[in-house]
Amino acid sequence: TEIKKFQQDLLGWYKVHKKPLPWRKTTSAYSVWISEIMSQQTQVETVMPYYLRFMEKYPQIEDLAAADDDELLKLWEGLGYYSRARNLKVAAQQVMTDFHGKFPDTLEDIKSLQGIGPYTAAAIASISFGLPEPAIDGNLMRVTSRLFEIDADISKAASRKIFDKKLRELISEENPGDFNQALMDIGSMVCTPKIAKCEICPLAAYCQARPKGTQLKYPVKSKK
Ligand code: ADE
Repeated sequence: TEIKKFQQDLLGWYKVHKKPLPWRKTTSAYSVWISEIMSQQTQVETVMPYYLRFMEKYPQIEDLAAADDDELLKLWEGLGYYSRARNLKVAAQQVMTDFHGKFPDTLEDIKSLQGIGPYTAAAIASISFGLPEPAIDGNLMRVTSRLFEIDADISKAASRKIFDKKLRELISEENPGDFNQALMDIGSMVCTPKIAKCEICPLAAYCQARPKGTQLKYPVKSKK
């Protein structure tokens, strides 16, 4: 089918071109969680050394739950948005007390953790637990809006549902984590905000904006 072909083209590209990120060497929920929180508001290339130092200092969730606050914030220095680090420790304590030290494996339970919103929960659920949850952030909305000429205003919270519905039709049930991460890489390497490198895009044949030349009209965004 067309959808199967789309998945194959996307996942085939990812196998060859994916960014070699350290957290992609494992699917452990703890690693995915830390990397996703660090990657919010920070480029993944900047995150790498922080991620490696963090994992060395706090290799397991119980180490983070017992972290010294000053040491934790010191490690975070340069990443900014320090509430992210404070939330990590609170959530690690929640895992210890509410889930017997085992990272929860359902979307709802993952979302119950401090600092974990819909995007992060879906990223962990798909990458670590193989659940078919689209991890929708700005990059995925840009790529998806161009592919399907979706003109929903991405500044509005209600628009998320439209992208969620479309991506649920497309997501690979066999490999939802790679599916999400492949779209993230397309968003950062190919289908970027100011240039759409359609010549190298594995999804060009499926793209509705490309034949019309409307790529850069998407995503529609009212607030700046
Ligand atoms: N940005 C945030 N999370 C990412 C991931 N898992 N892969 C690539 N880019 C990302």
